[in-house]
Amino acid sequence: MTDKITIFDTTLRDGEQSPGYSMNTPEKMYLASQLEKLRVDVLEAGFPSSSEGDFEAVQMIARKIRGMEVAALARTSKEDIDAAWGAIRETANPRIHIFIATSDIHLQHKLRMDRNQVVNEAVEAIRYASQFTNNIEFSAEDGSRTDRNFLCRIFEAAISAGATTVNLPDTVGYAIPDEFSDLIAYIRSHTPGIGKATLSVHCHNDLGLATANTLAGIHAGARQVEVTVNGIGERAGNTSLEEVVMALHTRRNYLPYFTTVNTREIYPSSHLLAMITGIPVQPNKAIVGANAFAHEAGIHQNGVLKNKTTYEIMEPATIGLETNRIVLGKHSGRHAFRDRLRRFGYDLSEGDIDRLFMRFKELADKRKEIVDEDLEVLVAEEILRVPDTYELKYLNVISGTATVPTATVQLEIAGKLEQKAGFGVGPIDATYNTIAKMTGTGSKLLRFSIDSLTGGTDAQGSVTVRLEEEGVQTLGKGNDPDIIVASAKAYINGLNRLEYMKKNQSLTRKERP
Ligand code: KIV
Ligand code: ZN
Repeated sequence: MTDKITIFDTTLRDGEQSPGYSMNTPEKMYLASQLEKLRVDVLEAGFPSSSEGDFEAVQMIARKIRGMEVAALARTSKEDIDAAWGAIRETANPRIHIFIATSDIHLQHKLRMDRNQVVNEAVEAIRYASQFTNNIEFSAEDGSRTDRNFLCRIFEAAISAGATTVNLPDTVGYAIPDEFSDLIAYIRSHTPGIGKATLSVHCHNDLGLATANTLAGIHAGARQVEVTVNGIGERAGNTSLEEVVMALHTRRNYLPYFTTVNTREIYPSSHLLAMITGIPVQPNKAIVGANAFAHEAGIHQNGVLKNKTTYEIMEPATIGLETNRIVLGKHSGRHAFRDRLRRFGYDLSEGDIDRLFMRFKELADKRKEIVDEDLEVLVAEEILRVPDTYELKYLNVISGTATVPTATVQLEIAGKLEQKAGFGVGPIDATYNTIAKMTGTGSKLLRFSIDSLTGGTDAQGSVTVRLEEEGVQTLGKGNDPDIIVASAKAYINGLNRLEYMKKNQSLTRKERP
């Protein structure tokens, strides 16, 4: 008999709250639907009391998702619990996730409370939440640095008050695998009533040990793991979902546990997240990195050609990675087109497919082959796009060795055409200075990067910018064979996304865990 491990996905909460990963509501909805296909057991959709935008996104996800539990995070206050419940009450299987810090460091410096007060606060909160649901998770923040006996005491009290899952976070990624499994074993043997609740682990990757600690936790008796796609999250990230799931899948001869994740949806999920956030997966990332299944060294290639198992411990197809790509061109049909998009994680409506397919046909008439990156651009421009406040109508740039770089920009701003010229130290600087002047933006440009989507000097240039305004960061992307035009498009896309967030989500976020 093997035990099932519950996969609690926190990509949309712990992952999304880290700088640079913020997503707008439609993007969160796309990802939530993909996580449903991945068949995670619990989806933590957000922290509803942190902002109106978070509340709205959690509520929309909860209304749509049926196939898994939807959790919302709350501190111990009634306001937080009311907000969490308000956001998830319409889903089929809601879970309220309540947390409070338990380590002496946090008690002394952050909460300024003593242990008795923390236990009382946790118990009160769980009792209050019990009027709404009996599916309650309690987390002891900074659990791995908490006194063991106090952990047992607060878990016992939480379970008596109604918690059905108790979670041990290694909030600062400080634990070492042996030590962590020892702690779990201690909790299991010293917490009265622990058998009535599911024991969970939640690890961060500050020392690169999140997956190892999570597996050590499972080995010692944890039956729920909290993870994120691509391991995104605060600082060095959270435990990566794909690493844990594939470790359990690949080493089932050694690890007698299973998950009900559909592993073939791992790659589409990873890809969709990277596309939405604009943050690529590092090439050597386990399981989903571009090099994870690439064999460069001659000796490896030789072995793999003779027999794959010499150097390959997993089949790429198991994670949904298609190695035999069919090239799309002007004779490709709607079916092949839709299928390719599915493999990237885009499961679109008929209407969206129609729109994209029309644009694909226009492109295919001009080009012999359409590569995956071209499809990404189509999706970014047609599907993941927010409504435009600013639209680029005209751009003329003069630069060279003997001239002051000058940009003339025409924008449509809220339906009115405006034109201005400006200077800069280079053509992109001149363009950005002019756009900034015209839009009056208060945002700061944090990052600017140029990439080429394909090889050759005629390749599409792809520009990504990261902007920040009032503590909220967003990305902008632009693609064009002319890199100055791609840069202008990226900046304008970033400004449009900030405007969208201002209108649709409160920019001010309360302090988060
Ligand atoms: O890392 C952490 O402690 C958390 C808790 C809120 C579960 O994210
Ligand atoms: Zn965390």
